Amino acid sequence: MPSPRLLAPNFEEIDAGLWRPDTWRALPAVQQPDWPDPGELAAVTDYLSGLPPLTAVGEIRALRDDLAQVAEGAAVLLQGGDCAEPLGRAAAEAARGKRGLLAALGERLAESSGRRAVTVGRIAGQFAKPRSAPTEQVGDRLLPVFRGLMVNDPAPTTAARQPDPYRLLSAYYTAKQVIEELAGAGGPLDTSHETLILEYEQALTRFDDESGEWFLRSTHLPWVGDRTRQIGGAHLHFLAGLGNPVAVKIGPDATPEDAVRICALLDPHRLPGRLTLISRMGAGRVADRLPPLVHAVAAAGHRVAWICDPMHGNTVRTGVGLKTRHLDTVVAEATGFVAAVRAGGAEPAGLHLELTAEDVTECVGGPTVPDESRLGRAYHSLCDPRLNPHQAGVVVDAVAEAMRP
Ligand code: PEP
Ligand code: CO
Repeated sequence: MPSPRLLAPNFEEIDAGLWRPDTWRALPAVQQPDWPDPGELAAVTDYLSGLPPLTAVGEIRALRDDLAQVAEGAAVLLQGGDCAEPLGRAAAEAARGKRGLLAALGERLAESSGRRAVTVGRIAGQFAKPRSAPTEQVGDRLLPVFRGLMVNDPAPTTAARQPDPYRLLSAYYTAKQVIEELAGAGGPLDTSHETLILEYEQALTRFDDESGEWFLRSTHLPWVGDRTRQIGGAHLHFLAGLGNPVAVKIGPDATPEDAVRICALLDPHRLPGRLTLISRMGAGRVADRLPPLVHAVAAAGHRVAWICDPMHGNTVRTGVGLKTRHLDTVVAEATGFVAAVRAGGAEPAGLHLELTAEDVTECVGGPTVPDESRLGRAYHSLCDPRLNPHQAGVVVDAVAEAMRP
C-alpha cells in the first residue's frame, strides 16, 4: 500500500521506492471514462499488459538526452500532430506525411534559431481527449461526450458514445502500425501523446532491470494536459514515477506556486531534459501570465524547457458553431511567448502545434482559407482544428525569426 506521505495532497516529492504503476488508483483521477463493465475492462488491460511494449528504453533515454540539450539552449523542440488521431490504416497512412512535415519545419526552426532541431510527433497514441463537460446535447438527446477513439465513437447515438474497453486494444494495434510504418519509411520519429486514460498507460508501463527504473513504453514523451495537472491528482502522480522525459501543459489559471509544485513533483533532482512545460495561455494573456511562472520555476532551480502551444488558448467558434483558430492569433501568441519567456529570465525552447500534412481548411489564414466561409472545403479533424502545412510554416517562421539570437 502507498504510504500516507506519498498520497498527501500537498506532497512535493515521490519516494521512488513506493511508487508503482498502479499507485495512481488511490488518488482522484479526473477525465476518466465511465466504463460500463469493470470486469471487461480488467480483462482487456490484463491482456494489454502482456503485449510487447511500443517504444524502446534506449530510444526514451536518447530523447531525454536530446531534451537536456533543448533545456540548455543548444537545441530547439518542435512537437506536433493531430489533436486526435484516427484508428486503423488511416493513422498509419497519415504518419509519413506528418513525419516529413515535422522534419521540414524543424529544419526551418533550426536554421534561423541557430540551434539543432529535435522533432517529436503527437503520434502513435494520441487517441484520447479531455473534455469540458461529460455530456453534450445533440438535438433532443443528451449524450455522453466523445472522448477520442480510444474510448468511444463520435457518431451522435447513445450506443456509439458508450465507452468500449476493446478500443484500448485498437489503440495499441494502431500505435504499433504507425510506429512500424515510420520505421519502415526509414528514420524513427519520437512519439508523444496526452497520458489521459491511465488504465491504458499503466498496462504499458514496464520495469527496466538494467536501470532499476519504470518506463512508460506506450510512447517516448508522455504529457499531462491542462485539465488533469492537479497537484495531488492521479495524472501527475503517474508521471512522477516514470523514467521517461515528461511534459505538462500550463494554462492561464496556473499560479507561480502551482508551477513550482509541478516542478518539485516531476523534477525533484533538477535534471535538464526531465521536464518540458508547454505554455498555452492565449494570445491576449501570455505577456501577463507567463513571465512570473518562468521566473518562479528558474528561481526554484529547475532547468525546464519552456515551449509554446499557441493553439489551445485561441480556439473560437464560427457563426455556424465550427471550432477554428485564426492564424494571426496563433502567430501572436507564439511570438508573444518568445518575449514572455525572455521577460521571465529564460530562453524559449520550442513549439507544440496541432498540424497535419494534408491541405485541410480547419484554421483561418493563408491563401486557401482567407476567411471563415472557406472552412467547409476540407474540415476533417476528429477534434480540434489543425494547421495545414502552409499555416504551420507561417507559425514556425514567425517563431524562428523571433528566436533569432
Ligand atoms: C490538446 O493538446 O489537445 C489539449 C486538450 O490540450 P490542453 O490540455 O492544453 O487543453
Ligand atoms: Co487539441
